[in-house]
Amino acid sequence: MLIAIPSETESRERRVAATPETVAKMVTAGFDVRVQRGAGLASMIDDAAFAQAGAQLADDFASTCDGAGLVLKVQAPNAKETEQLAADTVVVAMFAPHANPLLTRYAQRGLTCLALELIPRISRAQSMDVLSSQANIAGYKAVLLAAEHYPRYFPMLMTAAGTVQPARVLVLGAGVAGLQAIATARRLGAVVEAFDVRAAAKEQVESLGAKFIQLEGVDAEDERGYARELTEDEQARLNALVADRTAEADIVITTAQIPGRPAPELVSDETVVRMRRGSVIVDLAAASGGNCRLTRPDEVIEHEGVTLVGITNVPSLMAADASVLFARNVWNFVQLMRSEDGGIDVAVEDEVVQATMLCRNGEWLKPQFRQGEEE
Ligand code: NAI
Repeated sequence: MLIAIPSETESRERRVAATPETVAKMVTAGFDVRVQRGAGLASMIDDAAFAQAGAQLADDFASTCDGAGLVLKVQAPNAKETEQLAADTVVVAMFAPHANPLLTRYAQRGLTCLALELIPRISRAQSMDVLSSQANIAGYKAVLLAAEHYPRYFPMLMTAAGTVQPARVLVLGAGVAGLQAIATARRLGAVVEAFDVRAAAKEQVESLGAKFIQLEGVDAEDERGYARELTEDEQARLNALVADRTAEADIVITTAQIPGRPAPELVSDETVVRMRRGSVIVDLAAASGGNCRLTRPDEVIEHEGVTLVGITNVPSLMAADASVLFARNVWNFVQLMRSEDGGIDVAVEDEVVQATMLCRNGEWLKPQFRQGEEE
């Protein structure tokens, strides 16, 4: 069976879905592999490296995918690419099923589409979890972006000219990206605080040497030890506390996203105005409306002396490592479907594979993702 790896065409997408490392593994496993010329360049992989790993090279999308049983991409195929894929082709990519206007088109075309962002978050699938591998990169790079735009030092410095105070970093949302942001900001010498609605995040935040923001004297557990809902009054006090800590911070990194819904507002316009001149907000939710409504997608703007960074595809800024990890995730996932005849079998009884399958040979399987479709 032929596996095709075309170049990414979406603007600002610098990653690639396979690397020479994973191509070599595909070849060893008995697959033929074809890579589009130039597909790896933005990830610092030249065509010769792919060829050396055993891939054929082709000039454009159509000739790369011609005869392929499986196409590996980072972003879902666009309208033109979809027309160039043969019926029954299996496509593995990030399909953004909550916001993709081409879902109907994929099914009409007879494709089998596997959406990587639907891989269940179970231990067995961690090595395939592109959301985690890429969020980790986003969290790290968010801190570096903040440092670049921040007109002061991160660490405390004692110099002959006197002492420089450390930057105060606040991370809102302590999931995969947030925890990596905390660790990175700590390594740069900042004083770090964090907040998350999940009580379980407290221990992880503290283990990284950061302070977890919580209401003093309020026990958010019920009598059985489970997290309980805060009362209205407690919630209002907590919101005010988070806003106060945000206003005091020099750097704020926000990471909260809800699939299929606009990102929750974590930093109000009023709070931004309260921040010190020169402060920086890096909004990792900029693509889905932003955790701060003032953020503009793919722009760096200034509002009352505060810099707001709204880059939407942060992992792509570190395309070389992002592709290495993404490609390993993809290959680990593809291996779940390997069949005895040397091909792949999408009918395999595996909950990870089945959870990702949007459509199979044109049959739509995930009714929850039909909204916003193109007729
Ligand atoms: P995410 O990208 O959906 O959200 C980021 C963080 O923002 C989350 O921790 C969330 O609780 C927080 N958040 C949401 N709304 C918020 C609000 N209004 N205020 C403050 N914080 C808010 O989540 P991510 O990073 O993809 O994963 C979250 C957690 O899931 C991880 O920390 C981990 O514990 C778990 N996970 C488990 C995996 C597994 O394989 N078992 C794999 C990956 C994550």
